[in-house]
Amino acid sequence: MGRLLLLCFSSFLLVTLFFHFSFCILEQVPTPPLPLLPLPTYSQLKWQQREIIMFLHFGVNTFTDREWGTGHENPSIFNPSALNTAQWATVAADAQISLMILTAKHHDGFCLWPSKYTHHSVVSSPWKSGKGDVVQDFVNAASAQGIDAGIYLSPWDKYEPRYGHDVAYNQYYLAQLQELLNKYQNVREIWFDGAKDPKAENVSYYFSDWFSMVKELQSSINIFSDAGPDVRWVGDETGTAGNTCWSTINRTSLSIGSPDITAYLNTGDPRGIDWVPAECDVSIRKGWFWHKSESPKKLSELLDIYYNSVGKNCLLLLNVPPNSSGLISDTDANRLKEFRSAINTIFHENLAQSCYIKVSSQRGDKRGDFGAEKMLDSDHLWSYWAPKEDDNEEDHWIEIWGKDGNIRFNVIRIQEAIGLGQRIKQHEIYVDHKLVIQGTTVGYKRLHRLDGDEVHAHVVRIRIREARGVPLISSIGLHFDPFWHSRFRVA
Ligand SMILES: *[C@@H]1O[C@H](CO)[C@@H](O)[C@H](O)[C@H]1NC(C)=O
Ligand SMILES: *[C@@H]1O[C@H](CO)[C@@H](O)[C@H](O)[C@H]1NC(C)=O
Ligand SMILES: *[C@@H]1O[C@H](CO)[C@@H](O)[C@H](O)[C@H]1NC(C)=O
Repeated sequence: MGRLLLLCFSSFLLVTLFFHFSFCILEQVPTPPLPLLPLPTYSQLKWQQREIIMFLHFGVNTFTDREWGTGHENPSIFNPSALNTAQWATVAADAQISLMILTAKHHDGFCLWPSKYTHHSVVSSPWKSGKGDVVQDFVNAASAQGIDAGIYLSPWDKYEPRYGHDVAYNQYYLAQLQELLNKYQNVREIWFDGAKDPKAENVSYYFSDWFSMVKELQSSINIFSDAGPDVRWVGDETGTAGNTCWSTINRTSLSIGSPDITAYLNTGDPRGIDWVPAECDVSIRKGWFWHKSESPKKLSELLDIYYNSVGKNCLLLLNVPPNSSGLISDTDANRLKEFRSAINTIFHENLAQSCYIKVSSQRGDKRGDFGAEKMLDSDHLWSYWAPKEDDNEEDHWIEIWGKDGNIRFNVIRIQEAIGLGQRIKQHEIYVDHKLVIQGTTVGYKRLHRLDGDEVHAHVVRIRIREARGVPLISSIGLHFDPFWHSRFRVA
């Protein structure tokens, strides 16, 4: 009897184990799809999410009313009466900006830190009796507000006598670069341009030496130049990316300072093998340096710049120049605050949150983490909707249905899960079955403002017509932009 019981029990156990085993096979948790190369690095992903960065052009030009200095400026003119880097950082913090980049040296060669390799610096100025260090104050003030710091060091130096003597000058430049990156820790972006003295035709900058040294000293830094390696120029200084803007490009097709590459920089390359996203640099005023006669751009201009940069998969590097007192003018600080508050007003409410979302298919069906609801949570990188991989390639779509009648909106936001590569090549938007947008790439963020004063719709359909692989959408939004709306009312 005991034996029989034992036998029964063990067969029961076997059967249970068997069922449990097959259950496991059936219930395999769907995995994320494979990434599509090239991918961003950790630092590039962090950079992308900043959206807006602040540039500060400050130096002898601030006191001479010039944009480019001559190199003959007397350091005695650098005498800001009320320089307060804490005020700069407060202005940035009020605008929810997480990275500020300072011109440690512009083309005139005057250094804002006491470099041991030249006297042409704050040391020879009356400011703080020659004992000051603007770069140190700037880094400290930023850090006190939890803001990261970045540095611009002009390769063109109109003061330095070694300029034009290749080896000697490159050694001088590299010495200053090492000095800066050793002295000031946690620099998150370093900014290089290719500007050169047009008369010194055989000057060469040893960019590969400089870049290698930068990465050796601070590995989490992003290097900006026309050609990356980490962040590229968008090809203009109006804050406007191409309607098609890929974060991918071929670095080998780029050369720093070459005018022939601006169109390529503006759009990127769908077949590019390097991840080098674009940065749009533009000033809040006409000039890069402060001039008494200039005033900040209107809010509507800044919003256009936002839609044309951040809204086209780029970063906005907005210059806000301190004045000759050493402070950011109240007019600029207020305009910047107004700008941030407008952005928050527009995007604070996602009208799609209260809608029904239908999608063409779902990876792993109802199991797994790839449902339509993933496009409405706050994680804009790693939580995303994925359609089935074997779906008809041209028929991936998302429909947003108003629950109680019409949705009133005028902005559509789409974001790709770029951590797995930039994929979408063509997309379309239909409002109540009418085609209203024919778009191309999406990337981290694509914003479409709809023409006309407002839209009332039952259903909005986003159709992905063409992609490099299965599209992965991390976020969608319908928003109402009252500033855009009022422009149609005035007209
Ligand atoms: C620039 O190149 C010319 C011609 O090769 C040469 O004569 C001159 O010395 C060079 N100048 C410098 C500063 O190296
Ligand atoms: C970029 O490189 C890829 C891979 O080599 C190539 O297919 C593509 O044509 C290149 N793009 C351009 C514009 O040359
Ligand atoms: C610089 O800006 C501050 C703050 O608005 C202002 O008090 C100061 O007068 C300005 N300096 C100049 C020279 O305009």
